[in-house]
Amino acid sequence: MPREILVTSALPYANGRIHLGHIVEHVQTDIWVRAMRMAGHTLHYVCADDAHGTSIMLRAEKEGITPEALIDRVWQEHTADLRDFGIGHDHYSSTHTPANREITYSIWRALEANGHVESKPVKQLFDPERQMFLPDRFIKGECPVCHARDQYGDACEVCGSTYNPIDLINPYSVVSGAKPVEKESLHFFVKLADFETLLKAWLEQRRAVGGLQAEVVNKLKEWFADGLRSWDVSRDAPYFGFEIPGQPGKYFYVWVDAPIGYLAAFRELCESGTKPGLTPADYARFTRADSDTEMVHFIGKDILYFHTLFWPAMLHGANLRMPTAVNVHGFLTVDGAKMSKSRGTFVNARTYLDHLDADWLRYYLATMLGPTLADIDLDLKAFEERVNSHLVGKWVNIASRCAGFVQKLFDGKLADTLPQAERARYDAAAAKLEACAALYEARDYAAAMRVIIEVADEANAYVAEHAPWTMAKDESKRAELHVVLTLALNYFRLLTIWLTPVVPATARRAFDFLGDTPARFDAGRTPLLGHAIQPFKALATRIDPKQITAMIEASKESLHATPASGSQPVASAASPNEAPATAAPAHSTIISIDDFAKLDLRIGKVIVCEAVDGSDKLLRFELDAGELGKRQIFSGIKAAYPEPARLVGRSVVFIANLAPRKMRFGVSEGMILSAGTGGNDLFLLDADPGAQAGAAVK
Ligand code: 2FM
Ligand code: ZN
Repeated sequence: MPREILVTSALPYANGRIHLGHIVEHVQTDIWVRAMRMAGHTLHYVCADDAHGTSIMLRAEKEGITPEALIDRVWQEHTADLRDFGIGHDHYSSTHTPANREITYSIWRALEANGHVESKPVKQLFDPERQMFLPDRFIKGECPVCHARDQYGDACEVCGSTYNPIDLINPYSVVSGAKPVEKESLHFFVKLADFETLLKAWLEQRRAVGGLQAEVVNKLKEWFADGLRSWDVSRDAPYFGFEIPGQPGKYFYVWVDAPIGYLAAFRELCESGTKPGLTPADYARFTRADSDTEMVHFIGKDILYFHTLFWPAMLHGANLRMPTAVNVHGFLTVDGAKMSKSRGTFVNARTYLDHLDADWLRYYLATMLGPTLADIDLDLKAFEERVNSHLVGKWVNIASRCAGFVQKLFDGKLADTLPQAERARYDAAAAKLEACAALYEARDYAAAMRVIIEVADEANAYVAEHAPWTMAKDESKRAELHVVLTLALNYFRLLTIWLTPVVPATARRAFDFLGDTPARFDAGRTPLLGHAIQPFKALATRIDPKQITAMIEASKESLHATPASGSQPVASAASPNEAPATAAPAHSTIISIDDFAKLDLRIGKVIVCEAVDGSDKLLRFELDAGELGKRQIFSGIKAAYPEPARLVGRSVVFIANLAPRKMRFGVSEGMILSAGTGGNDLFLLDADPGAQAGAAVK
């Protein structure tokens, strides 16, 4: 049964460039959309820039332009980057549009009318100089637990503690440097408790039909443990967003109108008349509560609460349809580690495109993508090898080795028929590849690519076995040669059909060469016979490792060249739009030698080092501290040392006389020193061999 599906990727924030993290998600979605279309379904794929929030407001201010001018410019960049990666959105909008304002208002009014809104005063830190309330990420200060400096208002990157910004020691506003003061203001809330029963049932039901991954539903269960708390959906002026109707100076929090942007983008598409078969009336048909169409979201695992709790609640509370599926993927890592600006592995989409072909990355990602939340690693060596071996060596080469003979010896025409044995071979390959349709639908692209490569191997074995280049020398074997070339090129065509969702631009060139335009997978059931092909032109070239090196180098450089790229979230955090565009300058104070002497720095030998259950950031160390005995220390360096066991046996430098701290996971008796900016950019200090455990560092 043909299905009608509205598909979305998460809306990229309009305050930074598209990077390879975004590309993973858009490629995953785009492959799905293309594959489902080729399976005969009707899909509408929309997306938009997420244009509101404090960050965008402040960035525009810093650049001396209006937020509107900023989001227009970023929209141009984003749409060009995504288009050049072959992402085929039917419409790419912005959340700052009249349609989105209108739908946001109508959802809000419905939530109010249905009694799901409440208001209450909230105490928050306020920047008295800049006259604005400060989101948590715009306040920094000393961690109340481990005393690390310059920690954000919600969590310490050094010790992993989470706290309230009010508990920070010596807090300062990242915007102005001023000391924030507490101030009260009225906020509006959506009463999520009203939706608890509904959401629980929805989650189970979606899990049962594959609309939600089991891992996702399990994670969400934690949220229900103490009952769902009301969701704060308002922010005070100054804010770049939609003002709440009837509440001057109060704005919708960016996360309210962001997902509504999915609907607005779709309404714009319906009303634009640009997509054949889609009319303005389709908007209501797709969005009403009893719609028999589908709505499928693709998102990263950092924003699943928004999409599986808040968003469905808002939709239901406003008498609209709920999502059919929310497909969640993991984060992109590069060479096994988080993308890093200093290592040049934080790569912007445009920097990639300046050096490498979009289809290459699309293919590599397809070989890595499955239906789980596991992170996806871009192993740069494997990327090079796989593209060269699979795409060029096993796929394109079939055509490049055979095409010339067809032109030269057979007037560019394929044979009119295939003998029974060859036809049976073809049918078997076609039947085998049909398994890919279900694999694409299940988002198990890695498995689909394995099937495709298996068939490519069969095709290459066939060509090697018959060696058309040898046969061509023997005029008595013309008819036989014609058959071999015809089957080989039909293998090539079949593989191309099934690779089309993954490498659309290369596939289009391949079909231009074949003089064919198959729109559906089932075109593969019938081989091309008695058909004229075009002269062969190179379809793809091998990756030269120098191109990869150049891209990495350029990514290091572009950090200095384009300050705007500096503040992108590697994998967007829960609300990175609240992340500051500016960092406070590092403070450096002159101290006396006596101050330094107060520090008891020692060498510790690592006896135990392990990850801490329930903490993303911490490692637990047990150190042999010589005369001081054993020390347990928690250190927030997990991102930099994903294999803690490897640290056992090495020496580290630690502060031995720091007051012990009670943390959620136990007592930390000191602090281990490391160099760097945080996250995965942290490097433990070492001592030359010979330094004894417990030796003083002076
Ligand atoms: O996390 C992010 O990058 C958000 N801009 C995603 C928004 S998705 C949707 F809800 F709009
Ligand atoms: Zn801390």
